[in-house]
Amino acid sequence: MPVIRRGEARDLAQVADIQAASAEAARWDVAGYLAYDFRVALCGPRVAGFLVSRTIAGEECEVLNLAVAPEFRRQGVARGLLKALLATVQGVVFLEVRESNTGAREFYKSVGFQEVNTRKGYYEAPPEAAIVMKFHSC
Ligand SMILES: CC(C)(COP(=O)(O)OP(=O)(O)OC[C@H]1O[C@@H](n2cnc3c(N)ncnc32)[C@H](O)[C@@H]1OP(=O)(O)O)[C@@H](O)C(=O)NCCC(=O)NCCS
Repeated sequence: MPVIRRGEARDLAQVADIQAASAEAARWDVAGYLAYDFRVALCGPRVAGFLVSRTIAGEECEVLNLAVAPEFRRQGVARGLLKALLATVQGVVFLEVRESNTGAREFYKSVGFQEVNTRKGYYEAPPEAAIVMKFHSC
């Protein structure tokens, strides 16, 4: 099982490598993640995955980015990251995912998210619809 902790500046090089290896993930300047809720999953000394989120309103949270290094996928790393976030949320968690990203859509459904809306033309390069997914924490 991965160890989940807050992401730090010393993690950013490995996070950038994971992001570069994950074409479906959002591509942002990783230094900016330090300003958000930023979690990393450690497998031994390696950063195996990361999750970036933010609180929008008091009881509403948004997942901004999530990716796991290809060699660590299907080992529960993303589930561990998302469960760590969900354990802190009292309310609703939203995210958008590319319509074609069926792997991520199945992943989010496996942890309790529901597909609630489609936003046509949401993404650029390449243009694509976003599926809006929502999780209710009680
Ligand atoms: C989506 C992603 C984060 C999943 O990470 P992961 O660590 O492999 O996921 P987990 O091992 O925690 O998976 C938990 C469950 O989710 C489901 N799941 C995960 N990946 C899946 C896939 N590619 N296809 C179908 N179901 C999947 C399965 O039910 C899985 O349980 P199982 O392995 O026992 O069958 C990873 O594939 C990734 O980094 N993709 C590229 C970046 C990306 O798409 N990010 C999302 C942007 S919104």
